Amino acid sequence: MRYRLFIALVASASAALGADDAPASYDYIVVGSGPGGGPLACDLARAGYSTLLIEAGSDQGDNPTYADLGNFNEAANDETTRWDFWVKHSDDPERELKFEHTTWDTGDGTFYVGQNPPPGAKHLGIQYPRAAVLGGCAMHNAGVCSMPADEDWDLIVNKTGDTSWSAANMRRYFKKMEKNDYLPSGNVDHGYTGWLSTSRTDASWAANDSLSQTKIMKKLAQLTGQDSTKIADLANRDILAAPKNVDEEVSFYNMVQHADKFGKRSSPNNYVRATLADPKKYPLTLQLNTLVTRVLFANATGAGSLPKAIGVEVMQGASMYKADPKHVAGTKGPVSQILAKREVIVSGGAFNSPQILKLSGIGPAAELAKFNIPLVKDLPGVGEQLGDNYEGSLMGLGQAPEDGGLMTLLFRTPSAPSKKRNIFTWCGVFSFEGFWPGFPTDYGPNEFACAMVHMAPKSQAGSVTLLSADPQDVPDINFRFFENHGEQDLKELVEGGNILREAWQAAGAPVLPFNELHPCPGTQGATRGVNCTDAAQAEHYKLQAYSHHATSTCAIGGDNDKLAVLDSKFRVRGVTGLRVVDASAFPVVPGAFPSCPTMMLSTKAAEDIIADAKNLKL
Ligand SMILES: Cc1cc2nc3c(=O)[nH]c(=O)nc-3n(C[C@H](O)[C@H](O)[C@H](O)COP(=O)(O)OP(=O)(O)OC[C@H]3O[C@@H](n4cnc5c(N)ncnc54)[C@H](O)[C@@H]3O)c2cc1C
Ligand SMILES: *[C@@H]1O[C@H](CO)[C@@H](O)[C@H](O)[C@H]1NC(C)=O
Ligand SMILES: *[C@@H]1O[C@H](CO)[C@@H](O)[C@H](O)[C@H]1NC(C)=O
Ligand SMILES: *[C@@H]1O[C@H](CO)[C@@H](O)[C@H](O)[C@H]1NC(C)=O
Ligand SMILES: *[C@@H]1O[C@H](CO)[C@@H](O)[C@H](O)[C@H]1NC(C)=O
Repeated sequence: MRYRLFIALVASASAALGADDAPASYDYIVVGSGPGGGPLACDLARAGYSTLLIEAGSDQGDNPTYADLGNFNEAANDETTRWDFWVKHSDDPERELKFEHTTWDTGDGTFYVGQNPPPGAKHLGIQYPRAAVLGGCAMHNAGVCSMPADEDWDLIVNKTGDTSWSAANMRRYFKKMEKNDYLPSGNVDHGYTGWLSTSRTDASWAANDSLSQTKIMKKLAQLTGQDSTKIADLANRDILAAPKNVDEEVSFYNMVQHADKFGKRSSPNNYVRATLADPKKYPLTLQLNTLVTRVLFANATGAGSLPKAIGVEVMQGASMYKADPKHVAGTKGPVSQILAKREVIVSGGAFNSPQILKLSGIGPAAELAKFNIPLVKDLPGVGEQLGDNYEGSLMGLGQAPEDGGLMTLLFRTPSAPSKKRNIFTWCGVFSFEGFWPGFPTDYGPNEFACAMVHMAPKSQAGSVTLLSADPQDVPDINFRFFENHGEQDLKELVEGGNILREAWQAAGAPVLPFNELHPCPGTQGATRGVNCTDAAQAEHYKLQAYSHHATSTCAIGGDNDKLAVLDSKFRVRGVTGLRVVDASAFPVVPGAFPSCPTMMLSTKAAEDIIADAKNLKL
């Protein structure tokens, strides 16, 4: 029923397209249902505005691969939702081939991962998984929820003068969306009535002094200036609390995830479904399996007034995008147009939002001219400033399995440029070495790892650039890791790994000695491997760092910032009726994990858009 009605609306909208007073179908169209678009679409509908949420993927909310957070590795590998982006980490083809898990297409429907491909295999690059599904990457991620540094928010105030971005005010949006499932109600830093469940892990093991991991943890406490007699309390500290100068705090915490206390994933998927199912009948329409191919403009040539976004063009059908491994070459779905009375909001994520803008004529003029895309607005920053956390791990095999649980630590390495902590690490019995088809490697029961996320990367030299004007094609994505101040960031990673390795030596029998897999392969001695210099480790991280928190390709910036794509209210500069709300809007990579920050940003965007709507006469 809903489907038939939708087709009828599309037909009338496209028939009327071009007329100035075209009867629009929806107040708002939101493109993409991830942490950026999902919460926003719900909040707009709940405020009474008719909203169409368009998502390229399907709804897997009832599929246990996605619904049970513990299955996150399986989810990120699952063809049902996977979009494979084959990215580069540099402009140097030789360096690219040194990435251990670089991936090749063998031509017989399988991948080869590694450095000795079979003859004739086609080099693809480094796999960067994304989820095309209702809820976006919050449906296949590990659900880790953490806050950016206060500075990451306050920087937007500095750039734009808009004080609503202050860290203190951003906490309001977090509290609005949070449904805390782990602390007694009344905690001023938390919300208890929102839609996003947060829960934490069981850290009771840290009270048991005889476990090998407790021993490592105590040593790590000493090495980072914490009280090693208070391990059990430290392991339960709230990582989302907001004390003064929180970013200078070096401490263990209990990791928080966006999931309920039973381990069920909580994401925009839940919020969208709850909004659609609410008996109050909020005016939200969800259109799945639909690829937005471009934004439509009135007055696109800018004669007289600014170009105005009036709707979107879509291609219907599952797997229309070529990043989808289920895409069948040559397949095209029916193309139609849908109008928005008020605004179009693009929330396709850090790779797809800049692609959609460029396909619509908004981006660097020369790049668009190359593909004969009619220019709507020359905005050189679209697709630029791509940044990501650098990630690397200390990975090894003990002589026996480690005893304990997950330990989470935020710390500062000696050469960090400010007083702020710069590494987020979590250690446990797992292996995490980045992404490739079939990741991760299972090294058996003796595996042990400390995964490090480096915060505040000093280089954001990456880019998303078109390879064609075909919206089914995937753009070129190059992170240009470590291009600016790379030595400094590598030094911080090396220092982090060295501190962790030193702590590992406290594990005792029967675990010791560790056979380290990387960055210093070989048996660990009382100190670090004799033949593993800091330089060798830096080289390892330079070549093998991985990432999965891409941001900043449609960045918010000030009026005089040439690379600014958005103003502080998410409005695309130089046009009207168009905003971008997702991880691409952050001017810098927000802390260690972008999922919760992006949902906060989405919640903020809804308030900003609703405030504007009240002043807008139609
Ligand atoms: C494997 C993995 C693990 C991660 N783990 C964590 C973690 O533990 N904690 C954390 O904080 N972050 C994690 N992240 C990152 C986090 O999930 C993302 O930063 C976040 O989801 C970004 O939200 P977004 O809305 O910007 O984009 P996305 O989540 O990518 O959502 C974009 C949505 O738009 C849709 N879309 C795109 N283009 C179109 C189009 N043309 N037409 C229609 N629809 C379109 C996509 O299908 C998708 O659903 C992880 C990411 C990955 C890949
Ligand atoms: C913001 O600007 C003030 C004044 O110039 C400066 O002291 C502060 O460090 C800046 N903060 C950030 C996060 O950029
Ligand atoms: C601590 O761990 C050891 C080793 O697993 C176990 O034998 C012991 O019962 C534990 N002690 C407590 C108090 O749980
Ligand atoms: C297009 O520009 C004309 C002339 O400036 C203006 O009258 C009209 O309202 C504009 N249309 C839209 C949809 O903005
Ligand atoms: C370190 O390297 C030197 C020279 O290559 C070699 O002789 C020595 O055995 C190595 N030591 C270890 C512990 O691997």
